[in-house]
Amino acid sequence: MIISKLPNVGTTIFTRMSQLAVETGALNLSQGFPDFDGPQALRDAVGRHIAAGHNQYAPMTGLPALREQVAAKIARSYGRMFSADTEVTIVPGATQGIFCAIQALIQPGDEVIVFDPSYDSYEPSVELAGGRCVHVPLALPGFSIDWQRLQDALSDKTRLIILNSPHNPSGALISRAELDQLAGLIRERDIYLISDEVYEHLVFDGIQHASVLGHDELYQRAFVVSSFGKTYHVTGWKTGYVVAPPALSAELRKVHQYVSFCGVTPLQWALADYMAEHPEHVEELPAFYQAKRDLFCDLLAGSRFTFTRAAGTYFQLVDYSAIRSDLDDVAMAEWLTREHGVAAIPVSVFYQSPPADLRLVRFCFAKREETLRQAAYKLCAI
Ligand SMILES: Cc1ncc(COP(=O)(O)O)c(C=O)c1O
Repeated sequence: MIISKLPNVGTTIFTRMSQLAVETGALNLSQGFPDFDGPQALRDAVGRHIAAGHNQYAPMTGLPALREQVAAKIARSYGRMFSADTEVTIVPGATQGIFCAIQALIQPGDEVIVFDPSYDSYEPSVELAGGRCVHVPLALPGFSIDWQRLQDALSDKTRLIILNSPHNPSGALISRAELDQLAGLIRERDIYLISDEVYEHLVFDGIQHASVLGHDELYQRAFVVSSFGKTYHVTGWKTGYVVAPPALSAELRKVHQYVSFCGVTPLQWALADYMAEHPEHVEELPAFYQAKRDLFCDLLAGSRFTFTRAAGTYFQLVDYSAIRSDLDDVAMAEWLTREHGVAAIPVSVFYQSPPADLRLVRFCFAKREETLRQAAYKLCAI
């Protein structure tokens, strides 16, 4: 009989809620993906490259043209130039990049600090490496780092801290001042960072994303991860990148080499072309998603849900205590899907120990205007 290496892992809530949305015909605002397509020129470029014969393995570290575009985009966004050769690695999805960074770093017995609520891939990746996650809850209501709890969680075994900003599911941001505070806290310790910045270009209200790529001290010990899927509305392409100093990139690449070897070749060509031809895409992205957030929130203002507008990501948390405080959030997400035709994600599933009185669900607003209007109409009727 097989002895499971991940006995606590079942079907994820994202799969379950998306399935329930299909079964019930509900509008799917649960799983985080757009219901519109990526740019036509980007999709056309894939066909062109397949026809042109770009169908064999890409270089293990990623197509040079794409790595150079990533380095150029980072220089424009954060004012730092990294080596496309030794610091940028293209991976088949941010999730794979995070997995490889964890496998490269974590030894049996090591502790990894994750902030709850946290993205669901971190903990199984740490467990497979023989490590243990130490969960530090973010401080409510703003989902900010609780510095006392973080300090208390540090031990001689702490090897890695995983940051996620803009944050899924809350939409909260880590500020530059918080990065400075973190640098001070770990300066004398042998601790590394994974900075999950897959929503780096989805930051609203004129705020600048505080990337670890723009923080010289933290970068020296960091793997910074991003996702073309989020930035170019093509989550199904599962293509991302990891930026890390040469010594860390070298270790990451040793693992990536045997997990997948390389990313999908024609997708990499298409992304390289599109990034070269449309550098304005990332500059326009905040306004594009802010308009969706504002449309959804303006419409929801007429409902009994309460919320603070998300500062980043394409997720909006809403508090439903004025509607069904008797239901926990898993039951509420199911009730919304079955009875009211809008699928959501409960926030408690992102926690090891959710606060007992948590009454929050997450909606994804990466949807067409028509979908958002229909969803808000249904939600306002509750
Ligand atoms: C916080 C976070 N990290 C990583 C990912 C995964 O990105 P990718 O699809 O490129 O693997 C997601 C996707 O939902 C996410 O929300």
